[in-house]
Amino acid sequence: MNSPFPASSTGRARLRPLAVLLAVFAAGAVAVSAPARAQNADRARDFLSESRPQRDSRMKWWRDARFGMFIHWGVYSVPAGVYQGKAVPGIGEWIQANAAIPAEEYQKFPPQFNPVEFNAKEWVRIAKDAGMKYIVITSKHHDGFALFDSKATYWDIVDATPYGRDVLQALSRECKKAGIKFCVYYSILDWRHSAQRRDLQSQSGVGSYASNLMKEGRKAEYVEFMKTQLRELLENYDPAVLWFDGEWVNWWTEADGKNLYSYLRSLKPDLIVNNRIGKGRKGMEGLSKEGGYAGDFGTPEQQIPPTGLPGVDWESCMTMNDTWGFKSDDQNWKSSTTLIRNLVDIASKGGNFLLNVGPTAQGKIPAPSVERLADVGRWTKVNGEAIYGTHASPFAQQLPWGRVTSRKGKLYLHVFDWPKDGKLTISGMGSRVKKAYLLADHSRLTASQTGQDLSITLPAAAPDPAVTVIVLDVDGDPSASASR
Ligand code: GLC
Repeated sequence: MNSPFPASSTGRARLRPLAVLLAVFAAGAVAVSAPARAQNADRARDFLSESRPQRDSRMKWWRDARFGMFIHWGVYSVPAGVYQGKAVPGIGEWIQANAAIPAEEYQKFPPQFNPVEFNAKEWVRIAKDAGMKYIVITSKHHDGFALFDSKATYWDIVDATPYGRDVLQALSRECKKAGIKFCVYYSILDWRHSAQRRDLQSQSGVGSYASNLMKEGRKAEYVEFMKTQLRELLENYDPAVLWFDGEWVNWWTEADGKNLYSYLRSLKPDLIVNNRIGKGRKGMEGLSKEGGYAGDFGTPEQQIPPTGLPGVDWESCMTMNDTWGFKSDDQNWKSSTTLIRNLVDIASKGGNFLLNVGPTAQGKIPAPSVERLADVGRWTKVNGEAIYGTHASPFAQQLPWGRVTSRKGKLYLHVFDWPKDGKLTISGMGSRVKKAYLLADHSRLTASQTGQDLSITLPAAAPDPAVTVIVLDVDGDPSASASR
């Protein structure tokens, strides 16, 4: 169990140790029941031998969604990148490592975490209006602090902060109401749990946190702790995706990842899990090529793979400035045009875009993020048909003026660079174009096709300088409409 957190004790907190003991006992009692174990083992085997159609139906909502909001929020938003009056280089949620903050000092942040301006409904509205279909929030980051009411520790928002309310509960409820899928991030690496310790042999101070070690003989206890928290998450918040991270530590193995994956899916069969539950990613690219790893999708970080990741599901996660967790001095914002083009680029390669916001300690999503998301929303509102539920571009080469997405009977041409001569050309069209029009207002465009060469006459100026979408109605399956 986590080292007890000596926060200002409430009556409730004082009763906690007994409650925790009972909870652990009850959990243990369930875990040892033989029939339940046998049933779980059977179900776990089923998951690993899931048929293609079963997998397709489990992944369907996620594949169609294309666009989600990542939320990195925790007590690191209190220092917001500044420690002892100095700006700390690096990403905000790593401040404990980047500034080598001792545990006794770091635990002064929860008592200062009082996000009275947090409004779950408003966050969900911001995501929904941007055209996002799911939200992934940090239930526990590397600092081990839980943003939900965990019975397994005091190191959580309900027990350790003056705010005292369960923000995950509020968010999951609002997501359900709004038809947004609620999902959670969970770090395997844990700087707080007493079973883990820093690697003091590490070359760098930060490295000593990054390569946290497991204390001799404590791994089973830590895995039980994770399972307890993960079960709480599944039972109380019903997340559609579990998004793991911090799996790179050397004591976590692929076998551990597979075991955990089976366990989680035995609890919630339609759960979707990212590849960071096991050892299936290489660097920041997202996915080892060999396959056979635990998890359902690859997670390229801060990058868009040049040709996607053909044959696998994947999601690029990205920051809007240079940090995930809030930093008061990071104003290096990507433009709205860049964000829209990233969404399009990713969809054209068959992936999802998980775009991050880092709310403040008061509970506000920073205004520059809100403004950009509103811009993206104005675009997705008009052009969503060319994003949601679409497939990757059928063209073997990236077209010089932009990107392409497709669905049955349609090709969507996303024009980034508006041709100066007013003619958009494509060679290698494999099927007949029946009609060309602007998606925004359905105004017809003249298209002339000679064999595989297509030329479309455009208005002089780009109707949408970020990305203008032209729809081509084509005969049959557009995957066959481009010669590869
Ligand atoms: C990196 C960072 C981590 C962040 C994650 C999101 O791994 O270390 O803080 O949560 O990216 O993918």
